[in-house]
Amino acid sequence: MKQWMATSPHETIDILEAELHQIGIHDQEKQHRAILFDCDLETAYRAHYQLRTASRLQRIISKFEVNDLNELETNLKSIHWPDWLRHHKGFIIRPVLSDDDAVALGEESVINSFVSSIQNAPFEKHPPKYTPDADNPITLVPFVRNNICVLSVDTAGKALHKRGWRVNGHPAVLKETLAATILMMAGYDGSETLLDPMCGSGTVAIEAAYIALNKAPLIHRSKDDFALEHLANFDRQLWRKIGDQLRAKKKQDLDHPIYASDINEKFVEVARKGALRARVEKYMNFETNSFLDLDPPTEAGLLITNLPYGERIGKDYLNSLYSSVGNILKEKYSNWRIALLVPVKAPIHLLDFKPTKEYRLSNGALPVKLLIKD
Ligand SMILES: C[S@@+](CC[C@H](N)C(=O)[O-])C[C@H]1O[C@@H](n2cnc3c(N)ncnc32)[C@H](O)[C@@H]1O
Repeated sequence: MKQWMATSPHETIDILEAELHQIGIHDQEKQHRAILFDCDLETAYRAHYQLRTASRLQRIISKFEVNDLNELETNLKSIHWPDWLRHHKGFIIRPVLSDDDAVALGEESVINSFVSSIQNAPFEKHPPKYTPDADNPITLVPFVRNNICVLSVDTAGKALHKRGWRVNGHPAVLKETLAATILMMAGYDGSETLLDPMCGSGTVAIEAAYIALNKAPLIHRSKDDFALEHLANFDRQLWRKIGDQLRAKKKQDLDHPIYASDINEKFVEVARKGALRARVEKYMNFETNSFLDLDPPTEAGLLITNLPYGERIGKDYLNSLYSSVGNILKEKYSNWRIALLVPVKAPIHLLDFKPTKEYRLSNGALPVKLLIKD
């Protein structure tokens, strides 16, 4: 049984696999939307701070057979809950019953079996409370398929795209994990100029600054924000040591500049404030300007952007914007590498853009494509 699991959308799982390798985790088993892995505790802690594209991280507690509720209850008796949970932190159960036999167990009955097992466990003071309405409870996830239950506890707490720096004020932001994914798919590593000329709230440019500075994306999460900090087996000293080591590895400056601009002044302000909270603002160049009037800041580099979609702007405007963007790319950016994230339904043909690579992704519920020209 592997000890850890990282999840991500299935279409970006290869990037997650590469990230795990990069931080020294080679014992991996790829599944649908998840990678199971084994490593020492130090490396697992590092993964919590460092993974840019994972949605969640989970620690696997147990794996056992479950043909009916009696068997579930018997197997739960062999879990020593005080090794995992602490009396002061409430918990919830989120069962994933993924085939007919699992569904037949009944979600409520599965939850009840867990709650009673935990509440009868030998805690020193008292057992933790079952708190389905609490803000950030410890989440236990029994995943049942083929009569096997893999039980894990969510160690991330808040989803990992919540880096802690987001400022509200833009209606169509990308998840930070998706921004990091498209940067990695485009091969960005900080060794060239980066420009996002339709930056919105600045997600792509801020994630780029983190990559270029070798800065761990979750290093500024507040104390106690990761669920693993509330587990009984948490090693605070080791956690601090890893945090300090990662902070020390951050570069002092960028090797190549990062530019971010948008036609809307308010969005540029949101991006600047986000960058300030993310503590990378001093490394970045923000500007309010239309892409159509912008001049390339350097001879070459990577232009990466998430083009607007027609939901809030008129169809005529969208068509003319896509044609103009296509023309500008040909006229002014022929030396640049280009990466465009566009909704599948957008008038992509009007860009007249011939990608060398193309990836299908999802931006929330919206199917999108990443078009790359190297
Ligand atoms: C889909 S949003 C980008 C969202 C961004 N990736 C984020 O995570 O916040 C597209 C952006 O393009 C900007 N935009 C539209 N037309 C533009 C133009 N001609 N020049 C520059 N920016 C433009 C919009 O103001 C909007 O912020």
